[in-house]
Amino acid sequence: MECRLVDHGTPEYEATVSLRYEVLRKPLGLDFTPEQLAAEVTDLHCALWEFGIPEPLACLVLTPLSEGEIKMRQVAVRPDHQGQGLGRILVEFSETTARARGFTRMVLNARDTAVDFYLRLGYTIEGEPFTEVTIPHRRMAKSL
Ligand SMILES: CC(C)(COP(=O)(O)OP(=O)(O)OC[C@H]1O[C@@H](n2cnc3c(N)ncnc32)[C@H](O)[C@@H]1OP(=O)(O)O)[C@@H](O)C(=O)NCCC(=O)NCCS
Repeated sequence: MECRLVDHGTPEYEATVSLRYEVLRKPLGLDFTPEQLAAEVTDLHCALWEFGIPEPLACLVLTPLSEGEIKMRQVAVRPDHQGQGLGRILVEFSETTARARGFTRMVLNARDTAVDFYLRLGYTIEGEPFTEVTIPHRRMAKSL
């Protein structure tokens, strides 16, 4: 098993979009627009792979917001692999990746159902609850 960055527009990137669609969008009756995916060309795409399997087991997106701040988005673990530590491994890989590029603060919008996952990884809640993609979220952050 290994974590690595994948390039936008490659078959590996398309495989991460499929995983994100299945885990995060389809259950809400939503899909990505071509414009949303095109805008991801400036993002960092992190994924966790099992050797010999062409689809990622987990993936997430990092969007730079400013010189020091970067946003973690679209964290998705394959349903049959959730609760086995893969989310933690990939988030920690993404933090190392961001730190190596000079970012000092990670922010994210956590679904209510995932807040405890991020709390265990050292993130803290900031501000009041809000709605995004039709469901309740909390803003969370961590110093890198
Ligand atoms: C939320 C998600 C990314 C977590 O990844 P995971 O691989 O299942 O989590 P891990 O096994 O790495 O868990 C790490 C720790 O968080 C805990 N944890 C994981 N998911 C949790 C949850 N939903 N609620 C509470 N605790 C959770 C685990 O028990 C574990 O705790 P420990 O280290 O004390 O044993 C994954 O379950 C997922 O893709 N869920 C559906 C999509 C989603 O909600 N994405 C996040 C959108 S903001």
